[in-house]
Amino acid sequence: MTIDLVIVLAAGEGTRMKSSTPKVLHNIAGRSIIDHVLGAVEPLGAKELRVVVGSAHEVVEAHVKEVAPKAKTIFQSERNGTGHAVQLALEGAPDKGSVLILAGDTPLLRSETIKEFAAAHVAYESDASVLTAILPDPFGYGRIVRGDTGELLRIVEERDANAEEKSIDEINTGVYLFDIASLKKTISGLKSSNAQGELYLTDVIALVKDGGSSVAGILSNDYTETLGINDRSQLAECAAIMRDRINDDFMRAGVSIIDPTTTWIDFGVQIEPDVTIFPGCAISGATHIASGAFIGPRTTLHNVKVGEKASVLESWAADSKIGSSSVVGPFSYLRPGTILSSHTKVGAYVETKNVTIGEGSKVPHLSYVGDATIGTGTNIGAATIFVNYDGVEKHHTTVGNDVRIGSDTMLVAPVTVGDGAYTAAGSVITEDVPAGSIAVARAKQRNVLGWVLRKRKGSSSATSAEKAGAQDVKSAKEE
Ligand code: UD1
Ligand code: MG
Repeated sequence: MTIDLVIVLAAGEGTRMKSSTPKVLHNIAGRSIIDHVLGAVEPLGAKELRVVVGSAHEVVEAHVKEVAPKAKTIFQSERNGTGHAVQLALEGAPDKGSVLILAGDTPLLRSETIKEFAAAHVAYESDASVLTAILPDPFGYGRIVRGDTGELLRIVEERDANAEEKSIDEINTGVYLFDIASLKKTISGLKSSNAQGELYLTDVIALVKDGGSSVAGILSNDYTETLGINDRSQLAECAAIMRDRINDDFMRAGVSIIDPTTTWIDFGVQIEPDVTIFPGCAISGATHIASGAFIGPRTTLHNVKVGEKASVLESWAADSKIGSSSVVGPFSYLRPGTILSSHTKVGAYVETKNVTIGEGSKVPHLSYVGDATIGTGTNIGAATIFVNYDGVEKHHTTVGNDVRIGSDTMLVAPVTVGDGAYTAAGSVITEDVPAGSIAVARAKQRNVLGWVLRKRKGSSSATSAEKAGAQDVKSAKEE
């Protein structure tokens, strides 16, 4: 069927979220709640989309413009109920056709479910249909009241329901399809004589029926899709369901996820078959993981391109590229601009930022590598620091091919180490090192013989030294 108009209701305050962020802008799997709803509506190809905004409307409007540029936002200055919101949204709407109405706080609803609902609406030749669900705990929702033959009579809100009505477990999901003409005719007749003193959209069902038109309550078969978010625990509940859906899709596509309950992958992430993801990973943004890679455990990747057969263990990386067959971690911190070629290694307690590392090069232990270009086949010794910041500005370091940087070297930028050069362990390199040379930049060692025997007399060190044959010989160079 053609849907002429879609109305998304998103003016509510979401007070139960206790947040400075409007409810519909809270995040699930890398998208806002309302973005999920608009995403489900998009494939329906409706002629027009209207979003009713109210609370924090400037922020919500700006967001809607970004994610659904064709949508029109309608401002409801006073939250006078769902019926009032729809009254406003219908101003200037076409007089004929069909309108789909849904809430902006039900992010799990799928396009397919809306399409099935629409098909049933057509099959029943209904003028007003509501999507219903049977909930294990229906508390708080509007209940579906049916007659002796199962026909839909009306919807009653929790706060207005009597004991018998409260025992009904079939609820109103807040998704409706109306013939626009029938809706327009009846919606002006809504009254606020209810527990909340609001105009309830739900009351339209009984009004349409009383007017002699046909109504239908159409039961959905997966109640989890219709869960609404009103507080943080419902946010977490919906996020977990979304996580399982995403993980199931990846597993069906050939990705091994060892523990799907602790693996959080956002929408938009691409993972090729035969990737293995160990427990405790968070993968988000425009991340792409190529076939044969191993990720985790406990690894965070945001906007990272991981090459084939690379391993990223117990690490954190953002806005970076990890080449094929490279090994990162455990405990590495790859900050934005890290580009690793293939067969590289970034090891334990290494932090990188804005650095390009050539094929086969290694930074295996305890280093900081910032603002640098490193060639191919180079080894950066343990505890090397690229000293890129002079307190005011950042400077670049260039290290050539097949270089051996000795352990605990300080490379004070700007500085260049030529191809095949070495630096001695513990050096502070402040000048360029020509290709093929070794730079030694540290104080020469001197040994003060017998110092411990004289200055630490009776200590365990002195005793051991004596046993080893050390003698109290005062050296000429001493003290
Ligand atoms: C509503 C339904 C209830 C249903 C439930 C499903 C009514 C009266 N009740 O209750 O039968 O079981 O949804 O989740 O409709 N909104 C506006 N303007 C307003 C009031 C609400 O735009 O003046 C928006 C809200 O932002 C929200 C949606 O309408 O997205 C539903 O409102 P909410 O207050 O959450 O209604 P519920 O109490 O959940
Ligand atoms: Mg609600």
